[in-house]
This record gives sequence, structure tokens and C-alpha cells, in this order.
Amino acid sequence: MAIEIEQPPVELSTVSVSETHGENSPYFAGWKAYNEDPYDELKNPSGVIQMGLAENQVSFDLLEEYLEQHPEASTWGNGVSSFTENALFQDYHGLDDFRKAMAGFMEQIRGGRAKFDPERIVLTAGATAANELLAFVLANPGDALLIPTPYYPGFGRDLRWRTGVKIVPVHCNSSNNYRITPEALEEAYGRAEAMNIKVRGLLITNPSNPLGVTVERSVLEEILDFAIRKNIHLVSDEIYSGSVFSSSEFTSITEIIEARKFKNSEGVHIVYSLSKDLGLPGFRVGAIYSYNDRVVTTARRMSSFCLVSSQTQRLLASMLSDTQFTQNYIQTNRERLKKRYELIVEGLRKAGIECLKGNGGLFCWMNLSPLLETPTREGELALWNSILHEVKLNISPGSSFHCSEPGWFRVCFANMSKQTLGVALKRINGFMEKREIEGK
Ligand SMILES: Cc1ncc(COP(=O)(O)O)c(C=O)c1O
Repeated sequence: MAIEIEQPPVELSTVSVSETHGENSPYFAGWKAYNEDPYDELKNPSGVIQMGLAENQVSFDLLEEYLEQHPEASTWGNGVSSFTENALFQDYHGLDDFRKAMAGFMEQIRGGRAKFDPERIVLTAGATAANELLAFVLANPGDALLIPTPYYPGFGRDLRWRTGVKIVPVHCNSSNNYRITPEALEEAYGRAEAMNIKVRGLLITNPSNPLGVTVERSVLEEILDFAIRKNIHLVSDEIYSGSVFSSSEFTSITEIIEARKFKNSEGVHIVYSLSKDLGLPGFRVGAIYSYNDRVVTTARRMSSFCLVSSQTQRLLASMLSDTQFTQNYIQTNRERLKKRYELIVEGLRKAGIECLKGNGGLFCWMNLSPLLETPTREGELALWNSILHEVKLNISPGSSFHCSEPGWFRVCFANMSKQTLGVALKRINGFMEKREIEGK
């Protein structure tokens, strides 16, 4: 702090200081190490390379080109009235044009195989806010959501911290490529029941963060049947749906709902955001899409705490309703991500490292279990520590994703240039060679 002030202890609320935000995990510690010594090709070539951030920078040129060609999208338009409209607009329904454009974009990502009604879209400040809002709406403090592992470390903060909702992990593992099975779901449900915890819902991420793999249609059917049988909600976080390398390899829960003619759909809700597919986490634009009328109304009312600025809505309404632009963007972005994925997976394979076969997302799931000195969480964290401080790469250990098997790491590849990715691969290769020479 620039101005030092004496700090006699003053109590803060239990919620605000609760550890359930999870920010003490290695996932966030790695970010700190990067911030203290960030890699820069010219200014700091021996710094830490950030591979722990699921950010998409591979298609920025397309967004910038659009803005250059359409300056009206990012300016006030004609005259003062436009500025006034932006400045005064604060309706929590959001701009009609923007909700329509979002619905259209979500349809396009799914290859036109599903329909989205703009009236069912609730706008939120990112998927973070969307997930928390749904947790508030669907569950009471002390109730639980089932979540298949490994899962995004931010869920602790987003779903538990302020809501008091619990997370009960559904344990999945590499023996069947982390398939979510009815048996694993039943086991987790039973575990919650045995602890007298009421399960209110099941949350899946499709495609999965950190696996970078889509959930197969038959598995989705089983998941939905399970939720219906138990009379619980099903939330599908589809934030990476536009980052699947080929649209035909992704089935959205919406497609199954429509195939079933909306029967039993009132417990199903989708979370989306533009943070990943458009690479705009700084814009804070997310959405809940619910088939339940009461959830739509209630979530919309609660969205007063996490609205999207009207200036942002106006800019993106223009961009996303230009279907020529969005079509080209979605296709080019998918191709570029796929190329990046192939580059990293091939580079790792040459270094002697295998990854789970992925088909989307901004990361790959790397298996370093053969390198562990002890096959435990401690062994995993010791390896993570030496990769962070000796190899100077911030990758994320599987334990921070609540993975039950030690030795897996998530490696992000879309938040840097191709050159930087090349440097990272060289460093990993050097690390593996050194280990071999040392006979490890
Ligand atoms: C599965 C998942 N859900 C939600 C989020 C949060 O995204 P947003 O930036 O839109 O809040 C992330 C970000 O990494 C994520 O991976």
C-alpha cells in the first residue's frame, strides 16, 4: 500500500473471510509466480511463461479488423442521443438487439442444430456471475451440487463461497477417459445422502475444462436421465462450445432437449459467456439460458448485481448480428485452435509426454505421472514446483482441478504467440532430456 495505515483488528463477516473461495490453491499461486517474473521475448527471456491461463488470443486480428471496418460499432453512432441512450439504459432485461444477437451466435456455434429464444436469455457479467447466480437460485445454503472431476478450480469460488452451497465431487478417472458414468453419479449422490446433504443439481462442463474433451451424446442422455430420475437440476456450462475444433464433434444439451420435444426440460439450464470463444474475458459478458420460466424471471431479477454495461452490449450486438463476420470468425478460430492443439501435443509427444486426446478448448491434459517420485498429491506438487521454478513454466496441477489421480497437468496454449509456445516446448524438451541424462 502506498499510504501505510495502522490496522488494529476489526472483525469482518464470516462469508468474506471464508476459505471457500479457494484462492490458496496452487492454481492461483502459479499466477502469482508468473506476475512476479513474466516472460518477455526481449525484456525477460528467462521469465515464467504463463500456461495456466485459459485465455484465447489466437483470433484477435479478426476482432480488430472488424472494429476497423465498422467504427460505428464502437463509437456512439450518430449524435448525442446515442450517448444519452447508452448512459441512461439500465434495464436488467438487457438490450433486445443484444439478446437476439447472443441467441443467434449460440445457434451458429451449434451448427444451427439448436434454437435459442432470446426471451430465455438472462445476461450476466461473465460465466462466473452466471454460475453463482444459478447456485443462488437453485439451492439453499448447505445444499449441494454434484460436479464431475476434474473440474475448473474457480467453481469453488463461484458456486460455494457466497452462496453457502456445497460441491460434491463425482469421481471420474483416466481408465475410461474420464467418462461420466451413471454409477459414478449414483455413488456421489449416495455419498451426499449419507452425509444428510440435499442434492439440488448436477453441473457439467461441455467441453470439459480441464480435459478439452466434449461429452458424448450418449453420455449426455444418461446424465439428463439421471437428473430427471433424481428430480434435480442439470446445469451445462458450455463456455467452450465455440472452441470445439469441429462443430460436428459437439452436442449441446439443447439438442437433446429439442429431440425430446422439451419434455422434462424445466430442470435444465445452460451457462455461456464470450470470454473464451471470442477471447473477451475483460468485457464481462455471460448468459444463463433456462428452460424454466421461474428460473428465468428469478435469475433476471437477481442479475441486477451483475449487469453487462450497455456500451458493451451495443458494440457486441453489432458484431454478433453480422453473420458473415461471425461465420468466418467461428470457423477460423476453430481451425487456429486445432492447429495450436496439434502443435503442442506433437511437441510434447516428441519430448516423450502423452496427452489425453482432446477435441476442443484452450488447453490439453498432460500426463506426467511417470515422472512422479511418489504417486501422491505431494509428489505432483513437488513436480509442479520444479517445473514452475526450474523450467519456468506455469502449468496447473491436476489436484487443483480435484482430479483423483496424481500426475496430470492442464497446459494452456492459446494465450500466447506461436513463438512463445515454441520456447515453452523447447524448455519442456530440455527438462525431459536432463532427467534422462540424470537417469530419473
Ligand atoms: C468452465 C468455466 N466456467 C466459467 C468460467 C468463467 O468465465 P468468465 O470469464 O466468463 O467469468 C471459466 C473460466 O475459465 C471456465 O473455465
